[in-house]
Amino acid sequence: MLSRKITDRLVAYSTPFYLYDIDLLRNTLQRAVEESSRYGYKIHYALKANFDPRILQEALQAGLGVDCVSGNEVRYAIEAGCPASGIVYAGVGKSDKEILYSLEQDIFAFNCESRHELEIINELAAGMGKVARVALRINPDVDPMTHRYISTGQAESKFGISYKEIDEVAARLPELKNVEVVGLHFHIGSQIRELRVFEYLSLRVNTLWKWFEERGFKLSHVNLGGGLGIDYDQPESEPVPDFATYFSIFKEYLKIDSSIEVHFELGRSLVAQCGELISRVLYNKTTAGGKNVAIVDASMTELIRPALYQAYHAIENLTPGGMEEKLYTIAGTVCESSDIFARDICLPELRRGDLVSIKSAGAYGSAMASRYNLHDLPGSVYSDSL
Ligand code: LLP
Repeated sequence: MLSRKITDRLVAYSTPFYLYDIDLLRNTLQRAVEESSRYGYKIHYALKANFDPRILQEALQAGLGVDCVSGNEVRYAIEAGCPASGIVYAGVGKSDKEILYSLEQDIFAFNCESRHELEIINELAAGMGKVARVALRINPDVDPMTHRYISTGQAESKFGISYKEIDEVAARLPELKNVEVVGLHFHIGSQIRELRVFEYLSLRVNTLWKWFEERGFKLSHVNLGGGLGIDYDQPESEPVPDFATYFSIFKEYLKIDSSIEVHFELGRSLVAQCGELISRVLYNKTTAGGKNVAIVDASMTELIRPALYQAYHAIENLTPGGMEEKLYTIAGTVCESSDIFARDICLPELRRGDLVSIKSAGAYGSAMASRYNLHDLPGSVYSDSL
């Protein structure tokens, strides 16, 4: 981990802040591009994972498009220099204003999540004298075997068009003259570590693809979303996720014509491991039950994942004074009992002022930060500008 190598340079910074290892980010992006281009696959960076401008620039320089989930994300990607032809836009609740803006920009495709939305896009595009390119997001009912809060492709989820409704949607399409269906889109969940899930997804996509083909749809791309998980338990044993296996699964199981473009929307796997949240120990205390609690100056306002998903992030004391190890609960500053980064973890004794690193925090960390308790938003430090 970068922070361990450069701790002496970090002590001068006011905490908490995000530290980004730009070399690791570049290696990760490069590996993802190498492994996907082996099969001609295209990647859109899921901006929701981290909209830090420097991270987005690195993703764009690596040649990625951008996957957006709001009009502001579309605008942000365009202002950062992403060509509109590289932008896809998903989300169950696109507002009229967001749709109009994206139509104006002529983005690659709207990933459309309901029949109702399709009708509204059609209406708004008609008003502008345009034809909207749309990929139908189908909910394929595949269990992603991940935390239920980040599962998106099971039958009762709010995402996508139910596979049971595709008949109805297909029947309605000929009347929607200002919508051109150019592809199918799927995204079944995030932090997927059981890679056979992607095998199951491919098999479902094959069936659905055939269904559309048989009804005369001329589709030019399929978008398989994101979801590839990372190793939160031992980040150093897998700093770059296994993109080779991930893409090879689709190559093996996806059976659609080779002329069809295959797209992905990766977020976490590209940016999680390059980011650490650096914090300082403020206070030590002991509970009535005898547990050691170290209060650090970060909190759920900088990294909400442990509070929201009971997510585990490895933590390291970067400035241990001695080697005596103790069991600690690492708690944040916010007035919420869920504001705990870890429970009963073994660390070299923590003293006031020690720097701690909360690892694998580059995805859904700073992007989900809030100003609750009027906290300042966390800053960013990049390894190449230290
Ligand atoms: N495409 C769509 C339509 C998505 O909704 C997402 C993530 C992605 C792509 C990127 O998925 P990834 O490759 O990052 O797994 N805040 C949660 C994760 C929420 C994911 C939301 N959608 C967390 O911290 O675990």
